[in-house]
Amino acid sequence: HRHLLDVDDFTPEEFEIVFSTADAMSEILSRPIKKVPALRGQTVVNLFYENSTRTRASFEIAAKNLSADVLNVTSTASSITKGESLIDTLKTLEALGANIIVMRHNFSGAPYLAAKHSKASIINAGDGWHAHPTQALLDLYTIRKHKGSLAGLKATIVGDVRHSRVAHSNIWGMTKLGMEVTLCGPPTLLPYGLDNPGANFPKVRVENQVEKAVANADVVMALRLQRERQQSGLLPSVREYVERYQITSERLKKAAKDVLVMHPGPVNEDIELATESAYGEKSVINEQVSNGVAIRMAILYLLSGRQGEL
Ligand code: CP
Repeated sequence: HRHLLDVDDFTPEEFEIVFSTADAMSEILSRPIKKVPALRGQTVVNLFYENSTRTRASFEIAAKNLSADVLNVTSTASSITKGESLIDTLKTLEALGANIIVMRHNFSGAPYLAAKHSKASIINAGDGWHAHPTQALLDLYTIRKHKGSLAGLKATIVGDVRHSRVAHSNIWGMTKLGMEVTLCGPPTLLPYGLDNPGANFPKVRVENQVEKAVANADVVMALRLQRERQQSGLLPSVREYVERYQITSERLKKAAKDVLVMHPGPVNEDIELATESAYGEKSVINEQVSNGVAIRMAILYLLSGRQGEL
């Protein structure tokens, strides 16, 4: 692969290459000096058309740990506000020497267009409702660290699945690696086309009652209610959502004893997750963030073509 646009075309072997490379990166991160020269002389650009804390910061840390030069370009502080197009912006960044462009965009598919026109490698850091492959990789890597193998594990994803690029990439990754996936949420916030046998969507179970959905789950992943992407009029109120779908410690009693409670962040505390679940002993939310650095180092390293120089 020259670009990372989603994980829907990954083979199980390719997931394993990313995970074992991330293991090597985790070992580097455990050293007193966390810097290796692997990407010396390469320029990584973080091109963000949408806000981010975790993804942008962890790509910057990951690139710096690999000794790349890093440039951060945000749409609001660039000539994008003057009307410069995506393609012209990419050409400008290439002319400045970008080797890898990490791109977040509010339009689904924008990184695919970028990949068609760019000589640099494009990494999708989240495109609209569509995909967020490095988030899925870090989530799967976190599960693998705790559980060893992923095959046969039960994952329940709860909340606004329809608008969640994180959920879409995770559903591809989880099902390709042999996990059983259950989706739970208000029907207006579940993906379109689930009951269409011709739809290009992996096989998942839908369970609207949260108590049933989390029963025996090895992983419970809560998602943020994405009010900014939702159409009004079709939604439950926040009060109704909390009552029916919030992950509480009481509801988690039905899950497997060693269930992992996950959330991609940012968390709307006491909406999708009760505080006691978000910060309880089963929560791995902060580990997800830390593992994001190892996974992003692995992806930058694998796409750089600099293998063997760790
Ligand atoms: N999980 C995630 O993508 O978070 P940010 O929007 O803060 O990058």
